[in-house]
Order: sequence, then structure tokens, then C-alpha cells
Amino acid sequence: PTVTYVEINGTRHTVEAENDLSLMEVALNSSVPGIDGDCGGAAACGTCHIYIDAAWIDKTGPAADGIEKDMLEFAEHSNESSRLACQVKLSEELNGLVVHLPLAQH
Ligand code: FES
Repeated sequence: PTVTYVEINGTRHTVEAENDLSLMEVALNSSVPGIDGDCGGAAACGTCHIYIDAAWIDKTGPAADGIEKDMLEFAEHSNESSRLACQVKLSEELNGLVVHLPLAQH
């Protein structure tokens, strides 16, 4: 599937990714800036915070109750479209997905 990461300044990074990789792994593999993924995908650091584009929320679903939501509460400027990129796995259903990067990870 193809994913597009949009930086806050409007720069778009469209990458072709493999199924079952997470949005965090794909961003790191493709040198998309703004996603750190410090904990390696364990939903434990919050440095892979992204926003799902409004048109895609129905497909990705919102942040999961529990650890993902808890981590996002610590992320700056999180809102109802926020997800941890390491918790969103790619599939053909998400082909064309657009996500937005936050200002910075903290
Ligand atoms: Fe640490 Fe996603 S990589 S929470």
C-alpha cells in the first residue's frame, strides 16, 4: 500500500510500503522526518505520534483504549485524530492513507 506523510509545512512524502509494517516502521525506513519511534514500537514512548487524515479515520479507527490512549495523553497537541504510528499496521485496505506529522515529538 501507498502512504503519504504530510509535514506541518505541507511537504508530502509518499512511500510504497509493505503490508503488516507499522506507520512508524515505514516512516523510519523511508527517512520521513518527525517520527522517532524511540521505544521500537511498544506503545511506550509516544514519539511516533501522528494525526490520521480526517478522510481516513473510519478505516484506521481511533486510538485504542488503554496503553495507546494513555500515551497520547502525554503527547503534545494530541486530539481525536491522534494515533501512535507504531500501532497502525498497513494493509491493502489502507492503500492511499494520508497522515499528518506533528510539529515535533516530545
Ligand atoms: Fe514508541 Fe510508538 S514507537 S510509542
